[in-house]
Amino acid sequence: KLDTRKIRAFKKETAGRTLQMLTCYDFQMAQLYNETELDLVLIGDSVGNVVLGMDHTIKVSLEMMTIFSKAVKKGAPDKFVIADLPFGTYATVESGLENGIKLFQQSGVEALKLEGAYPHECKLIERLTQIGIPVMGHIGLTPQSVHEQGGYYTHGKDEASKNKLMKEALALEAAGCFSIVLEFVEENLSKEITKALKIPTIGIGSGQHTDGQVLVINDLLHNGKKDPPKFCKPIGNLYEIKKKLIEDYLK
Ligand code: KIV
Ligand code: NA
Repeated sequence: KLDTRKIRAFKKETAGRTLQMLTCYDFQMAQLYNETELDLVLIGDSVGNVVLGMDHTIKVSLEMMTIFSKAVKKGAPDKFVIADLPFGTYATVESGLENGIKLFQQSGVEALKLEGAYPHECKLIERLTQIGIPVMGHIGLTPQSVHEQGGYYTHGKDEASKNKLMKEALALEAAGCFSIVLEFVEENLSKEITKALKIPTIGIGSGQHTDGQVLVINDLLHNGKKDPPKFCKPIGNLYEIKKKLIEDYLK
């Protein structure tokens, strides 16, 4: 089983392989993961999109994250499991501490993830880490800020944005993060950030140079009706397979 010491030390170049993280939202899938070589399991607030049919992650609550995280942790006792702190639950250091402790303690996951690297978020990460709650960072496209960022697009294309992201990555490492998700960060910048950090970067839509990769499992399996986003090449089409099975059964 992975732990924060092993994860912190994981760099693709020396490990000779990619750190693999996939999302999970239910007990049975977690049981399946528990029998595989998968490194990290994430209960993403993407549960709002793919399980609850929401347009974005903003309406996902701490209670929802607790329910899904409990189920996943129960199914994957041997995996290092990470849960997202949802929108609005870490708007201040104090609320983030209170909500972070609740989610961590009630779900039994090994770590939390939160979006952004503003000063209050770095402070919160420092405090959570000090009381024994490991934190994974998340910068670039941060879906909880979709309205503020002005949609979904690649970050780090111009000089100002590049500098900002590099600074954020270094600040998150200094605050105590054991790894950082880079979502839709320009490929060459992802490479530079990965080189600049001692802790592993985990990319999504950010090219091949990050230490790890994360995908939403529903995209990877084409579990939904809609085609998955372009950067994800599905390894099957579960939607069509399940639809055919049900149709055959109904006959
Ligand atoms: O919620 C989620 O699934 C995530 C990953 C895509 C990084 O945050
Ligand atoms: Na998320």
